[in-house]
Parts: sequence; structure tokens; C-alpha cells
Amino acid sequence: MATKSKKLISKLDTLYKGENILDTYKETLFGGDSRAGYNYFNNNSTGQCVRCHSVKGQGGTVRPSLTNIPNDLSREELLQALVEPSARLSPGFGTVLLTLSDVHVIADVLMEEHKDELIVKTSQAEPMGIHVSRITKRENMPSSMPPMGAIMSKREIRDMIAFLSILKGSN
Ligand code: HEC
Repeated sequence: MATKSKKLISKLDTLYKGENILDTYKETLFGGDSRAGYNYFNNNSTGQCVRCHSVKGQGGTVRPSLTNIPNDLSREELLQALVEPSARLSPGFGTVLLTLSDVHVIADVLMEEHKDELIVKTSQAEPMGIHVSRITKRENMPSSMPPMGAIMSKREIRDMIAFLSILKGSN
């Protein structure tokens, strides 16, 4: 008994630390009702997706447009974007805090991420490339997108992934 509950507690601990957060949402990656996702996207006053995002030119335009999002993100990545928005920053919309080996700290908008170089937007006209060997510490600044796990049910997340993964269009 005792050991069993201990196991359970440590399992819950990991969950709360968020280490397995994507695992706990596995069932949202399959199936889903894209119409229900469409309705949630456009009408739900708690999730408020359209306040920040546009699809095919409608809705907010300050944040990444989600038209064509299935070309960029897989279902797993869509799930992560919803429940762990700060884990991966959408290019051009997230700030990284970089500590460089010459004890320089910069906080700039991450424009592109490559294996050996990050491109950031600075106050200069040209974006700056920083070789990863110069970076001693990297921190993604929290995304301004709220983590949706606290707001949406699993069923709503599943429907949303179904909707986002069939979006196509020009924008
Ligand atoms: C308060 C504004 C805000 C709201 C509300 C919001 N988002 Fe976001 N979203 C953002 C920002 C900012 C980013 C870019 C930074 C990042 O990647 O987290 C983003 C990124 C995303 C991405 C990843 C896009 C990419 O190109 O990587 C997806 C998918 C997404 N949001 C879906 C949604 C959905 C679905 C909803 C509603 C349930 C929603 N968002 C509500 C601000 C918002």
C-alpha cells in the first residue's frame, strides 16, 4: 500500500513539474471534431483565440497568423504550442534572453533558429546572427499566449488540433 501511494505521489510530482505534460495529452492527437474546433476558435470567450490570431485574414493580426499552420507544425507541435506556449517560440514572435561568453546579455526577438546559429532582431536595421558557441545560457521569455491546459478541456484541445491541422489557404 504505502509503496504504491509513494509511486503515485512521485508520478503526480512529475506531472505537476510539467515534465510529462505532452504525454498526459496523448489522446488529443487523434480524431477530434474540426467543426467544434472552428467554433471554439471563433466564438469561445474564455480561450479568445481570435483576439490574438487570424485565420485567412479574419481575427487579430498582432500574433502569428494560423493560416497554413499545418505546413509548419505537426499535431504534436500544435499540442505543445497550446499547452506549453513558451517551450517553442513562433519565429518573430518570441523573445529570447541570451547570455554570451563575453558576458554580454541580450534580450531580443528570435527570428530564426538554426542548428548552429540563432538570428535575432535588434535595434539595428539588420538582424544579427549569433553562433551557438558564443551562447552560454539561453532562456525563452514566457510567451504572452496563455497555457491552454488551464483553460480548455482535453476534448476542446483535441477538437482544436483537428481544426488547426486542416487549415489551408493563402495568407
Ligand atoms: C493573448 C494572446 C493570445 C491568445 C488569446 C492566444 N494566443 Fe496563440 N499565440 C500567441 C503568441 C504571442 C504566440 C507566439 C509565441 C509563441 O509561440 O508562443 C502564439 C502562438 C500560437 C501557436 C503557434 C504558432 C506558431 O507559428 O508556432 C498556435 C498554434 C496558437 N498560438 C494557437 C492558439 C489557439 C488555438 C488559441 C485559442 C485557444 C490561442 N492561440 C490564443 C498569443 C495568443
